Amino acid sequence: MRIGDKPAARLKELGVELRPSVPLSEKTSLGIGGSTDQLLLRKFETIPDVMRLLADENIPHRFLGGGTNVLIADGELPYIVLHLPTSQPGMRVEGNAAYVDAAADLGGMVTFCAKRDLGGMEGLIGVPGSVGGALRMNAGAYGTQIGSYVREVELYRASTGNLETLRGDDIRFDYRHTSFAPDDVMLRVKLELPSKPFKEILALIKVCNEKRRASQPLNQKSAGCIFKNPPGGSAGRMIDELGLKGHRVGDAMVSDRHANFFVNVANASCADMLRLIDEVRERVRVTYGVEIENEVIFWKN
Ligand code: EPU
Repeated sequence: MRIGDKPAARLKELGVELRPSVPLSEKTSLGIGGSTDQLLLRKFETIPDVMRLLADENIPHRFLGGGTNVLIADGELPYIVLHLPTSQPGMRVEGNAAYVDAAADLGGMVTFCAKRDLGGMEGLIGVPGSVGGALRMNAGAYGTQIGSYVREVELYRASTGNLETLRGDDIRFDYRHTSFAPDDVMLRVKLELPSKPFKEILALIKVCNEKRRASQPLNQKSAGCIFKNPPGGSAGRMIDELGLKGHRVGDAMVSDRHANFFVNVANASCADMLRLIDEVRERVRVTYGVEIENEVIFWKN
């Protein structure tokens, strides 16, 4: 979608940078996604004004974070995407509290805190994506989930049109699910982390990195696990037992390393990936009687 000249001029006055016709395949870890105009929001304070302007002008929009857990449709998209700037996002530590901008890289945040002797999040080290995306999904791995450490979240609340601060106690963090509204935009988080010597944290980080390298296709284009694990079960194990590793639709393939990772081996389209997801879900349903839910978020046009 292209933004008209009039709203573009007003956005410029609000300090927003407009990048025309950006291929979102370059902004997602799957390497899939059509094209649209992109807005870079430089200052949090201007977000309510920008959102009001988009509403007044009837411009559909979505916020894109790290792009590591999203599947975006092909072709010209009927909405624009908004982005918080990722260069030099704020991170600071005060005692056991870490204050981090949502646009920061999740792994970058874990090592930043580790160097200041704050641990707890070692398991999250290889999870790709932004801090904001991790908050929204309550990202987790190796027994750690980010929600356990959240004390405050600053966000833009679309339902009120304001910037708000929520206390950690007022947010529910479940398995890959939170009580944030779908149109809440994460801006900044305050975490409270246990003190731990850097050396100890580093040793735990190494263990997690090794486990991950041994079981996941880290050098291929993917969105991590495609499905959530069903209660008490493992989507990866079921798909593997069905002999579906290496199964392909076009260039979308079930990883031969970890069966819950679907990889884009060259130029997969969103349509290929969706068909692969549906086929695998159906095979699991028929054989195991279990309905597995997407973990990856599909942006339907
Ligand atoms: N397994 C197989 N074949 C496979 C994959 C797994 O038999 O192809 C078996 C494993 O041997 C193991 C069990 O299934 O016995 C579970 O596998 P794994 O330890 O790899 O964990 P997972 O449940 O598949 C979860 C998260 C990952 C996270 C790892 C490590 C979900 C959906 N996935 O995977 O998170 O990295 O644990 O903690 O919760 C993600 O969310 O995108 C993600 C990758």
